[in-house]
Amino acid sequence: MHCGVIQGKVDNLALAVKFSINKELPLVSNLANCSKLIFDNIPNTSWAGFYIVDDKNNLFLGPFQGDTATMYIEYGMGVCGTCLVYKKTIIVPNVHEFPGHIACSSLSNSEIVIPIIKNDKVVAVIDLDSNRYNNYNDDSAKVLEEVAVILSDLF
Ligand code: SME
Repeated sequence: MHCGVIQGKVDNLALAVKFSINKELPLVSNLANCSKLIFDNIPNTSWAGFYIVDDKNNLFLGPFQGDTATMYIEYGMGVCGTCLVYKKTIIVPNVHEFPGHIACSSLSNSEIVIPIIKNDKVVAVIDLDSNRYNNYNDDSAKVLEEVAVILSDLF
């Protein structure tokens, strides 16, 4: 029996996320499947996942696809912690030029981080890495921001 979830490549990532989530189930379960949907549908992505804001306004590692990653990022540190400060999507065409970038993989060359905002507060960020330079642009930001709006409902 098939478990009935959306898998693989989809025509519309935001819609796939919308139909995948189930608010009655735990956040970790929802984000786990969403990390895979994002990983499979944003091309050339080597790592995709979530960092969740804790009660000290720092970030802890959530569900992801890819290599093991740093488990805790303080407010203002790295690309993810910077996203928390500015509450805006950050596109990094070349991570080696981003001051304070936290390298989880030496192969990573570009990154995008999108805030998930609930009641004007960042509650988590979506983080994607690529081994290619310049992998993310305004189009990737647009679709991932749609995903972030949908996921804000889970918090
Ligand atoms: N590069 C991130 C750290 C997380 S890993 O990319 C998974 C940063 O600078 O915040």
